[in-house]
Amino acid sequence: MTKHVLELRGLPSHIGIIMDGNGRWAQLRGQDRPEGHRAGSATVRRIVRASRRLGIRALTLYAFSEQNWSRPDLEVGLLMDLLKDFLLAERGEILDNGIRLQAIGNLGRLPAFVRAVLDPLRSESSKNHEMTLTLALSYGGREEIASAARDLAVEVKEGRMRADEITAESLRLRMPSLVVGDPDLVIRTGGEQRISNFLLYGLAYAELVFSDKLWPDFAADDLYAAIESYQGRERRFGRVGAPLAPALVPQVPPS
Ligand code: IPE
Ligand code: IPE
Ligand code: MG
Repeated sequence: MTKHVLELRGLPSHIGIIMDGNGRWAQLRGQDRPEGHRAGSATVRRIVRASRRLGIRALTLYAFSEQNWSRPDLEVGLLMDLLKDFLLAERGEILDNGIRLQAIGNLGRLPAFVRAVLDPLRSESSKNHEMTLTLALSYGGREEIASAARDLAVEVKEGRMRADEITAESLRLRMPSLVVGDPDLVIRTGGEQRISNFLLYGLAYAELVFSDKLWPDFAADDLYAAIESYQGRERRFGRVGAPLAPALVPQVPPS
């Protein structure tokens, strides 16, 4: 039973999640880190399903950062195996539920056995439009900005664009992470309050929610709580806010 009765108006259109805390979850149980990653994989299933049912248009999951390659080979290998297993197991659910699967990041670094399941699923699901599920794999926000800058440099060099025509929007348009729009809400589990190189450019006006729950413990209800927090915020985008309700306006004593 869920504790949250969500208002379905004003849902975030694009949610990003930094899925952190698998290793600590395992350590707290006296288990090895791989057990945490296994449990984390089950959470991915739960949260994808809950998001799809709510009608979230885009969900971007930070599954493996460009910097995560510096973890021990054994852990990296296990994460790649789990990724392959996840894609194989979820294939039916993804296709049956109209989910479009995308991947962003330096995909060339992924092992061939991952690409062999990832790439066909990306193309098979490419016409789906109920929800876009984007896996950030070997992803880094700075690397994505650098890649967009390189693309622009080539266009300028080839005379397809002038340097003085480059705007914030021209960079944005060359970022695969933002094809589904800027993230409205970004959640990080695991208690750390940092971004760790996720979606840097798109984060400009995202609402942030930090949860102390470790990723394997993160439940649909925690997702609803994060969305509820989002719905209670006023996004101003640099403009002035709505006037305060009269009862909330501080009474200034006459001077
Ligand atoms: C997140 O959990 C999974 C990945 C980064 C791949 P961690 O493995 O970072 O878990 P902690 O932060 O060490 O607990
Ligand atoms: C961020 O978690 C990356 C992913 C969740 C994939 P990390 O565990 O790698 O981040 P840091 O090292 O704590 O900043
Ligand atoms: Mg971590």
